[in-house]
Amino acid sequence: YYALVFLLTCIIIHVLTSLINGRSNHKLPPGPYPRPIVGNLFQLGQNPHRSLSNLAKIHGPIMTLKLGQVTTIIISSPEMAKEVLQTHDHSLSDRPIPQSLTVLDHAYYGIGFLPNSSPLWRYLRRICNNQLFTNKALDASKFLRQKKLKELLNDVYHSSQTGEAIDIGKAAFKTGINFLSNTIFSIDFAQSISDAGDYKDIVVSILKATGSPNLADFFPLLRFIDPQGIKRSYGICIRKLFVLFDKLIEERLKMREGVNYATNNDMLDALLDISQEEDSKVMDKQQIKHLLHDLFVAGTDTTSYSLEWAMAELIHNPDIMSKAKKEVEEAVGIGNPVTESDIATLPYLQAIIKETLRLHPPAPLLLPRKAKVSVELINGYTIPKGANIMINVFAIGRHQETWENPTLFSPDRFMGTNVDVKGKDFQLTPFGSGRRICPGLPLAMRMLHLMLGTLINTFDWKLENGMKPKEMNMEDVIGGNALRKKDPLRVIPVKII
Ligand code: HEM
Repeated sequence: YYALVFLLTCIIIHVLTSLINGRSNHKLPPGPYPRPIVGNLFQLGQNPHRSLSNLAKIHGPIMTLKLGQVTTIIISSPEMAKEVLQTHDHSLSDRPIPQSLTVLDHAYYGIGFLPNSSPLWRYLRRICNNQLFTNKALDASKFLRQKKLKELLNDVYHSSQTGEAIDIGKAAFKTGINFLSNTIFSIDFAQSISDAGDYKDIVVSILKATGSPNLADFFPLLRFIDPQGIKRSYGICIRKLFVLFDKLIEERLKMREGVNYATNNDMLDALLDISQEEDSKVMDKQQIKHLLHDLFVAGTDTTSYSLEWAMAELIHNPDIMSKAKKEVEEAVGIGNPVTESDIATLPYLQAIIKETLRLHPPAPLLLPRKAKVSVELINGYTIPKGANIMINVFAIGRHQETWENPTLFSPDRFMGTNVDVKGKDFQLTPFGSGRRICPGLPLAMRMLHLMLGTLINTFDWKLENGMKPKEMNMEDVIGGNALRKKDPLRVIPVKII
């Protein structure tokens, strides 16, 4: 009986919305015909970034899809991305709120999902831009990351002694999460490459829960039912994470009471300083936990998957690997780890990271945005109020009209150009752009160059079982929150000197 009532309700809603849309449809961007109730949901498949790229070849660089009940606009060219991310950024940079993130009201306190008109969001962005991710703050914590880099090298050295292959994704994940946990708390979240550590397990579970497609986000009526139990399992994880954060914050508050306490130069101290300033009523303990949650969720697998891709591309392209090694060797001396101050002297390494993010953007559709009001774009199409917007940076990174040999991995294309990932060049925006651009960009770029430069300057790398570089499988898959290599990259390190 309930199923029948549910089905009838869905059909009535579908008919009503079609009628309403029908009246104003003339300016909606084109797109594939939506089926009753499910719309175009099944056309997304397992790899939405690829299926949407294929649909864009038929319907154009701005398309309308109906994902369940949600009107969704897909952008697939640099020109249209500029319209959304720059020209109409103010009207188009709210976020749809995922049903799971309403646990503990996280979506209403976390930086990632607050609307851009919210004073709290603006306040949190200011703290990120002016305090947590400034060059000065990141310079103050760089010795912590250098220490973690040494530990990565010890792990790699151990494998080189035994001749065992290393799973680069796992090693990068461990190092990335420890870079982050040290930058934030001055402690390690992950103890070993294979696993261990409550913190790491919880972060991994959160990434799984937030990365799984949730029917409740496509059929708003289901938000109250939690059909796949995603909200429930995410609820368990976020509560556990908050308990751990509580413990760390309490410990730090006690330490700070000591007369001889000298700052740790980490983000927690910066946030507690802000919370203890007399006029800050906003940055209380609860608010700090919501912010830290988002930094971990947004910063962990994005960074480690990018590193895995960069290494995979270098091993897949031995000539580019040799050229990169030569550059690092000349700048920092063979066998030495790269430091964060070396990065500016390594233009080819920088080009490799850009090229990796062009072909393998960890967030291939960015984070979804939502239209605050209806907006008419330069080409006459309208993005209707309330629609979700996805920018397919995977498609834009391979856009035929923009890039020569778009699928070829060729860092040289960036040499001698000013094209960068910082949100000004709309053909390359893996970190997004405008008001909502990734605040962690400066830290992510330091971590990537540090790990990649060091790994190639201290070891040579061989594929397992005599595999040849050209035999590598370079397919991708969405894993957790980000685009990762389908076959994990397993390589044997050989110590250089
Ligand atoms: C948002 C990419 C690393 C924290 C985003 C967005 C993208 C992105 C595409 C959405 C931008 C938009 O809507 O225009 C990446 C990539 C990374 C990375 C490719 C690594 C290679 C990090 C790191 C941190 C971080 C290391 C923090 C430690 C955030 C936060 C947001 C965000 C908090 C939400 C901002 C908001 O909605 O206002 N990131 N990110 N990200 N990122 Fe990153």
